[in-house]
Order: sequence, then C-alpha cells, then structure tokens
Amino acid sequence: MAIIERVFSGVQPTGNLHLGNYLGALVNFVKLQATYNCLYCVVDLHAITVPVPGGPDELRRNIREVTAAFIASGIDPRKQIIFNQSQVPEHAELTWVLNCVARLGWLNRMTQFKEKAGKDRENASIGLYDYPVLMAADILVYRATHVPVGEDQKQHLELSRDIAQKFNNDFSESIAAHGHGDKFFPLPEPVITGPATRVMSLRDGTKKMSKSDPSDYSRINLTDDADAIAQKIRKAKTDPEPLPSEEKGLETRAEADNLVGIYAALAGKPKSEVLCEFGGAQFSGFKSNLVDLAVAKLSPIAAEMKRLTADEGYVDSVLIDGADRARAIASETMDAVKDIVGFIRKR
Ligand code: TYM
Repeated sequence: MAIIERVFSGVQPTGNLHLGNYLGALVNFVKLQATYNCLYCVVDLHAITVPVPGGPDELRRNIREVTAAFIASGIDPRKQIIFNQSQVPEHAELTWVLNCVARLGWLNRMTQFKEKAGKDRENASIGLYDYPVLMAADILVYRATHVPVGEDQKQHLELSRDIAQKFNNDFSESIAAHGHGDKFFPLPEPVITGPATRVMSLRDGTKKMSKSDPSDYSRINLTDDADAIAQKIRKAKTDPEPLPSEEKGLETRAEADNLVGIYAALAGKPKSEVLCEFGGAQFSGFKSNLVDLAVAKLSPIAAEMKRLTADEGYVDSVLIDGADRARAIASETMDAVKDIVGFIRKR
C-alpha cells in the first residue's frame, strides 16, 4: 500500500457554524480540492462527547446543516468525499487500537479538554477525554497527509503525529513484514494558513470566536442574513485610533487586528494590502466596507444553505454516497492494521 497524498478534515455538527469556521477551515477546504483528493467529514461521533442541548433531532439537523455548509461553500461532493463519521465504523474501530498506543500523559496535556471539562472534571465524559484519539483515528484511517484546520486544533494535530509515530515504532517489524516498508502511517501535516487562522470574538478581541459564546453578537453565523451581518459588524468592538498603515501597528490592537484579518481573508488578500488601502481611515468607514464585503461573500452561502437544508433527501444522499466511498478506503487501512497488530480476520 503506497502512501498517497490525501486531505482530511472534520467539522463538528454542534450548531452555529460561524465566520471562524468558514475562514479558518472551509475556505481552505475549498482551495485544496483543486490539487488533492479530499475527504471532508461531519464528525458526529465527536458531537456527542458533550450533551446535545436539543437532543437527537437537533443532532440530525446540525449534521445536515454542516453538510449544506460544505456544499454551499463550494466543495464538490461528486469530486470529493463528504460524509458523516458515524456511517464509517472504522473510525471507532481504529480509535480502540490507537487508545492502546496513546499515553495517558499525552492526553493529560490537552488544553481543549481542560477548557471544555472546566472545573467539574470528574463529571466530564470519557469520550470528551478521548476526543483527541478519535481525531487521530479520523485522519489516520485514511492515511491522510494534509489536514487543514484553524489554529485551535494545532495541539490535537501534534498528538495525531505522535500517535502515528508511536504506532510505526511499536509495530515496525510487523509493518515491514507485511510489506509496508518502514512506516505505515504518514505523519499528517497541519495546514494552518491564511490571514484568519484564529478569528476572534467581535465583542472581545482576546477571546476566540466560538459556537458556544452566549452572546450572538460575538460571532457572525453562516446562516445570518444581511441585516444581522451589518448590525454585528457595526457593533463590533474597536478602539478610538484610526487604522495603521502597517501590520506592526496592529500588534497591540487585538480588535483592529481581528477586523483587518477578517477583511483580508474575505477579500483573499494579505493584511498588508488591506492596510495599504485603509491605513489612516476611521473604523466607521472601514466597517462600512467590511459590511459590503461580508454580505457579498456570505449571503449567497446562507441562501444556498437554506435551499439545501430544505432538501433533506439530497443532503442525506450526499452523505450516504460519501460514506460508501470513504469506507472503501478506511476498510483497507483497518484490514492492514489488523494484520500488523496480529488479529485474525476473514479474507
Ligand atoms: P470544530 O468543529 O470546532 O471547528 C471546525 C474548524 O473550524 C476551525 N475554527 C476556527 N478557525 C479560526 N478561527 C476560529 N475562531 C475558529 N473556530 C473554529 C477549527 O480549527 C476547525 O478546523 N476537533 C475538530 C473537528 C475534527 C477534526 C478531525 C479536524 C474532528 N476530527 C480530524 C481535523 C481532522 C473541531 O472540533 O473542530
């Protein structure tokens, strides 16, 4: 089995997909499809590591909404693979094997678990703790080489690399004996690029834009209409100074930096170019331009998401077809893993 270059990434169906998800992840998903074979996964197994507030119906709605967002952003489901994780049982199966490779000490360092579990750690689910191993399995079951994500997923990707490396070392003799050379899993490369790898809250430039922020004004949702987008940008926190002409001038100005990053990512330009254009301008003028740009880019996506989510039959057919194609790859990896580890299987 030769290693083929392949892209994998996932998005949780937990509601409120926002501009951070779009600029930090989806925009890069779309770009990468021009040069790679890609798998984009709605990670529903991850979504149940914390309680789903509206229950099973809400989970189903959210799965369809993320699928719609993938397609509306420009991912072609005929050329690439779009699917939901729970339809490919090999993700959970490989997780078990990798649970026996990963070390407790590695997981204890995961900052996202600490943040999500909060003070009541004893009451967090085992799934929430094991979340990063499932994430490693998601990537490694396709032996993916490139993983586009936002900055917040960097630590999880480093862990995926450590797990891959340890599996390759622990089973090196068996890997060679089964004809896979000196390594079975490639070490996945994080792809964290663009001017908006960490989009911040519109209310507080030191906090990440997030699905779970209680204030809806902190984020632009992908389903927001033009009026909501305009209002949220006009109310976004800023400082009294005009915009600087160079990037250095943004260093101590978190809110200004965030809005310039958002503009740059939406316009597909570097921040330096945005500052060339707006350096010296007041925020009121800059915000009007940002509203126009954001509405022009995001409104068609919101409209397409609405159209797609109304067509459950089509969305579900995309997921079923994608899962069949994903499974063909995943089962091949899992068969090889079983041979490497020493399990007996039907041939
Ligand atoms: P999730 O669902 O929280 O977020 C999906 C993607 O959006 C990015 N993102 C952001 N980027 C920039 N600024 C922000 N404020 C922002 N908020 C979110 C995330 O970095 C991510 O790329 N654990 C993952 C899902 C996952 C996964 C995987 C990703 C499961 N298995 C395997 C890659 C590979 C998560 O919770 O993403």
